[in-house]
Amino acid sequence: MAVVSINGRICGEHDAVVSVFDHGFLFGDGVYEVLRTYDGELFEAGPHFERLRTSAAMIALPVPFSDDDLLARVREAMAAFGGDGERYVRILLTRGEGEFTYDPHACPHPTLVIIVKALPPDVPQHYAQGVKVVAVSVMRNHPSSLNPRIKSNNLLNNVLAMQESLRRGGFEALMRNHRGEFVECSQSNVFVVREGGVATPPLDAGLLPGITRAFVIRLARGIGIDVAERPLLDADLLAADEAFLTSTTKGIVPITTIDDRKVGDGMPGTVTRRLMQAFETRVKAHAGAGSR
Ligand code: PDD
Repeated sequence: MAVVSINGRICGEHDAVVSVFDHGFLFGDGVYEVLRTYDGELFEAGPHFERLRTSAAMIALPVPFSDDDLLARVREAMAAFGGDGERYVRILLTRGEGEFTYDPHACPHPTLVIIVKALPPDVPQHYAQGVKVVAVSVMRNHPSSLNPRIKSNNLLNNVLAMQESLRRGGFEALMRNHRGEFVECSQSNVFVVREGGVATPPLDAGLLPGITRAFVIRLARGIGIDVAERPLLDADLLAADEAFLTSTTKGIVPITTIDDRKVGDGMPGTVTRRLMQAFETRVKAHAGAGSR
């Protein structure tokens, strides 16, 4: 069962309701973040709050809360949830209730929802054997249309991509931008490894600046692995020795099949495994340091 904070009111799953006149519901007019805990401590909360503010600013949505207010609300919901396991925390900030108009002035009060649930358990096989991603025909939103940098509650682009991937037996949907470059998956960022070096698409290719992506780039460089942010084309995928995806909820997951073709020898590669190991060590140290 989830615990939900709605504008500071703590509710159970069944009474966690917002108005149908909320523009978040009517228009997908809002932004969100997904955080998780490691050893009960929120991971990278500061960068998540910062990204929430950036997303909100990009849709002219005021955030009438300080980081400390947000953190206090999240902690309150986590305390109400209780339990010992790892938590999944989804923060949604919507335009709020108002008339049927796109004019933001119609909605003076944004709605802040915080959902706390148990983090779904990891599937060990995904990490040991890797997963299949499907290069879908659904194109990632054009940055001049709905910029993928906005972590928007309007998720139809991602939903449609993932539907196609699921139909084709994929764990994730790999999307291209308007130039045909691979940019990211429906809920994660993508990396390839070639001759020991790592590459991932640059932010200006049109993708979400993943918190895990940034963490992994720093981590890799810190242990002497070269990381390039450069466009990823079909040839880069074909030539990749290894590939992996990153996200808050899943960390680093090896990609061992793209469509129906194996990546490298079809097993998680050396560099990916080294990064997974280093990631685990770092998140444990992070949690142990009581980081917020
Ligand atoms: N997804 N790209 C997209 C489109 C995403 O939705 C996400 C996150 C990522 C990875 O970002 P991060 O490392 O900050 O989680 C990349 C979250 C987990 C979700 O929607 O559930």
